[in-house]
Amino acid sequence: MRERILALVDELKRRKADGDELVYVAPESIAALRTAVRAKQGAGAAQADAAPSRRLADAAPAIDRQAPAVLPVADEPAFEMKPYRKPAPAVVVEQGPALPEPPSFTVPEGDKRMRWEWLRDRVLNCPVCKANLNPGKQIVFGNGNIDADIFFCGEAPGADEETQGIPFVGKAGQLLIKIISAMGLSREQVYIGNIMNWRPQTGQATGNRPPTEEEMAFCLPYLMAQVEVVRPKVIVALGNTAVTGLMGPDKNRRLGKIRGQWFDFKGTPLMPTYHPSYVLQYGSNAVKRQIWEDMLTVMERVGLPISEKQQGYFR
Ligand code: URA
Repeated sequence: MRERILALVDELKRRKADGDELVYVAPESIAALRTAVRAKQGAGAAQADAAPSRRLADAAPAIDRQAPAVLPVADEPAFEMKPYRKPAPAVVVEQGPALPEPPSFTVPEGDKRMRWEWLRDRVLNCPVCKANLNPGKQIVFGNGNIDADIFFCGEAPGADEETQGIPFVGKAGQLLIKIISAMGLSREQVYIGNIMNWRPQTGQATGNRPPTEEEMAFCLPYLMAQVEVVRPKVIVALGNTAVTGLMGPDKNRRLGKIRGQWFDFKGTPLMPTYHPSYVLQYGSNAVKRQIWEDMLTVMERVGLPISEKQQGYFR
C-alpha cells in the first residue's frame, strides 16, 4: 500500500510539473491518501474535500520517504534507480548576469577532429564563460564520440561536472549512462553536451538554478557548432531547459505533451524526453517507461537493433 501511495504522489507531482492543474483522482485513491495523511498527522488532520477532481497542489501530501519510490515491475528493469532523495530546491533568479551578444564565429574547414579541437579550445578560452565560472571551477565542453549517431544534450553542468570539467558525471549522469547502456551503447559511442558551458551561479554554496534565456542564448552558438561538427543522426534533448535552449522559449509548451515526437533542429531530427534528474526525482514506472519508449524510437531511427528483452523493459 505504502509504495502505491508513493507512486500516486509521484505521478501527481509529475503531472503538476508537466503543467496539469487539474487531474481526476479516483475516490479510492483519495481515501488511501487520507489514510496516509491521518497516519502521519493524527486523526484530526485529514479534513480534505471529498470531491474526486482535485487541485494537484493540494493532492500530494507530505509523506516521509524512507523507502524507494519504485513500483514492482513486470519485466526486467533496464535502468535501476537509487532510493529517492529530495533534491535541494532549484534557486530562482529574476535576472542573471549581464552578458554580451552571443559569440559569432566560423569553425575552420578541415579534418573533423581538428575542427572539434579548434571549437573546444575556443570554448575553453571563452572570456565570458570564464568570467561566469564559480571560483576555481571549470568550463564544461561536450565529450564522447565525435562520429556518434546520437547527441545527448543536457542543461548545464552541476557541482560534479564543473569540478571535473566533464558533462554528466554526477548522479544524473550515472543514470544517463545506465540508459545509454540499456540501449546497447557505451558513453564512448555517443556524444554528450549541454546547453550551458558553465554552471549558472546561484550566489550560494549549494543548489542549482536553471540558466536564464540570455545565458542559453549566449552558449547556443557553441552547441550549434558542436552539432555542425559531429553531424549526429539525432539529438536527444534531455529535459525542459535543453528543449527550450534548442527549440526556443514557448510558455505553452509542455514536455509531457511533446516528448516522444520528432522535431527539427536546423536539419537534425530532435527527440525531446525527460532529463535523468527528473527520473531521479519523479521516478515512477510510468516515467521510466516513457523515457524508455523515447529511447526505443531513437534506436529505431538510427538503425540500432532492438531485442525482445529491450522491448519489454518497464512494460
Ligand atoms: N545535468 C545536465 O543537464 N548536464 C550535466 O552535465 C549534468 C547534469
